[in-house]
Amino acid sequence: MNLLRRLKFNLSYFGKAPWDSGISPPELYDFIASHPAGCAIDIGCGTGTNIITLANAGWQVTGFDFASRAVQIAKRKLKQAGVHADLFNDDATQMKKVQGQFELALDLGCFHGIQNKADYLTQLTRILAPGGFWLMYGFFKTDPLLSGPGLAPSDIDMISAHGLTLLSRTDGFDKRERPSAWFLWQKNS
Ligand SMILES: C[S@@+](CC[C@H](N)C(=O)[O-])C[C@H]1O[C@@H](n2cnc3c(N)ncnc32)[C@H](O)[C@@H]1O
Repeated sequence: MNLLRRLKFNLSYFGKAPWDSGISPPELYDFIASHPAGCAIDIGCGTGTNIITLANAGWQVTGFDFASRAVQIAKRKLKQAGVHADLFNDDATQMKKVQGQFELALDLGCFHGIQNKADYLTQLTRILAPGGFWLMYGFFKTDPLLSGPGLAPSDIDMISAHGLTLLSRTDGFDKRERPSAWFLWQKNS
């Protein structure tokens, strides 16, 4: 299943991926404006737009994606932007190559599609510094009982059970009119 998803994402990066706007969202700029720079990791970083935004704001950034084509494009974009970051291929449910601790973990559109969310959360809590933030955006499943991508209400409970506290949640709709939300979580110290 993961292999198929990876293939699907890889293929999407050979064309114009619909989410790849090249513009960082205002929610990320708001976070940057209200928190001191530190170490950040972009989980499922795609072509690196948000890595560049964070690095330009003084953050030391790491990014990874399981789609090698995305990482390839991100490396090229970073070079063109004159930005340095640690970039590699990895799987968010394993994070085998991720070293160190981060004050910010960013996830725009990756977590909601993960099948084994508990494995992701175990890794997330390993790599987040105490008091570190997880800024996450995802869409919700229309029917929580259906398999496939999307957040279910039980996922939100599972996140709290992994030692994270919800600081804020802003609900809205994505481009396809699916209910979606921005979440800011903090790892308990
Ligand atoms: C909707 S895209 C968003 C990309 C980027 N965050 C952005 O905002 O442009 C989701 C990204 O997560 C990546 N992804 C999905 N599942 C993953 C996994 N298990 N491990 C690592 N990356 C994953 C995909 O390859 C894709 O690049």
